[in-house]
Amino acid sequence: MIETGTKSTHLMELEDTFGAHNYHPIPVVLDRGEGVYVWDVDGKKYFDFLAAYSAVNQGHCHPRIIKALTTQAQKLTLTSRAFYNSVLGEYEKYITSYFGYDKVLPMNTGVEGGETALKLARRWAYDVKGVKENQAKMVFAKGNFWGRTLAAISASSDPSSTNGFGPFLPGYELVEYNDLAALEASIKDPNTAAFMVEPIQGEAGVVVPNEGYLKGVRALCDKYNVLFIADEVQTGLARTGKMLACDHEDVKPDILILGKALSGGLLPVSAVLANDEVMLTIKPGEHGSTYGGNPLACAVAMEALKVLKDEKLAENSEKLGIIFREEMNKLVKETDIVTLVRGRGLFNAIVIKEKNGKTAWDVCVKFAENGLLAKPTHGDIIRFAPPLVITKEQLMECVAIIRKVILSFD
Ligand SMILES: Cc1ncc(COP(=O)(O)O)c(C=O)c1O
Repeated sequence: MIETGTKSTHLMELEDTFGAHNYHPIPVVLDRGEGVYVWDVDGKKYFDFLAAYSAVNQGHCHPRIIKALTTQAQKLTLTSRAFYNSVLGEYEKYITSYFGYDKVLPMNTGVEGGETALKLARRWAYDVKGVKENQAKMVFAKGNFWGRTLAAISASSDPSSTNGFGPFLPGYELVEYNDLAALEASIKDPNTAAFMVEPIQGEAGVVVPNEGYLKGVRALCDKYNVLFIADEVQTGLARTGKMLACDHEDVKPDILILGKALSGGLLPVSAVLANDEVMLTIKPGEHGSTYGGNPLACAVAMEALKVLKDEKLAENSEKLGIIFREEMNKLVKETDIVTLVRGRGLFNAIVIKEKNGKTAWDVCVKFAENGLLAKPTHGDIIRFAPPLVITKEQLMECVAIIRKVILSFD
């Protein structure tokens, strides 16, 4: 058991009593964060190896992003889109040139980014491709995860996302991930608007497709005049060792969805990027959000993007990711509980084989006792995604903790 002080116990009880039970957290109560570290209410320090599901790529409370937030917060925070504001245009120019698209549509959460992309794709299918009204088909890969709204779970193949929440949105089709033949069979249907895919599946357990898959997706989407939507909410923004995971294969999606680290963990900021042919199909009054494009979010997102480049976080992720996987592969050879290591950059996962009734959950609890925070996904997979500001020395300290804990279970 993790030693928890009375303060922690009290705060966990509060959440348990007054909050919905839609999460099952590791029993630590966090109070402060800086860079790769977080501290609990009792003052214990941890390496954060989840980084808020890759929202904190720039590290906790990055001083430059905090400064952008506090400066803007004292000036103007929200106007709604009923009016122009003095930061939005500057941000739109910055992010579109950063990623090489004509236009951006700003939203808040990642799932809203996904919804926006799908609405754009449907509208494009009717207005540009010529699909008959209400016939547009959206294709997704099995194992996808893009959030918890009804449109998102309608695309899910995971019963824990869908059970008891039907009926679901029509017009969806699922194909195997990493299977170009299956994709072709589905998208050659002339009603297909788009294929939406994570370049590496995050929640599914950091599932990396074969080399050439993304290039193949691009080619098939071109062949059948179907939009390629890349959900880079988790994989984007330097996480996998490139600015975008699609950059590993030099492919450019028609619609790019970003979220999470777009604010460096300060507030929900998402963005959908596309060229005019797609973006201008949506007209005034047809889509939006009260908070989308607010000046506070724009100031924060611009600074968060600048930090990624200035601090060469993609390069650090690429370099340290190689070392990390080498170290984890040693554990695969030395023990029989770590059966597999996979990932790209500092976006990795290990697969744990249950031993003496001990599961990935028990391993994560032990990690926490030893000062490292990670969380299992799908029962037997542990994702490792630290803030990308981590140094080699810090990473090796973490490797030592992971080794010690894994060997204690062997
Ligand atoms: C790939 C991907 N897309 C979309 C989302 C949804 O983002 P949010 O939780 O901000 O709505 C997630 C969240 O984990 C994600 O991993």
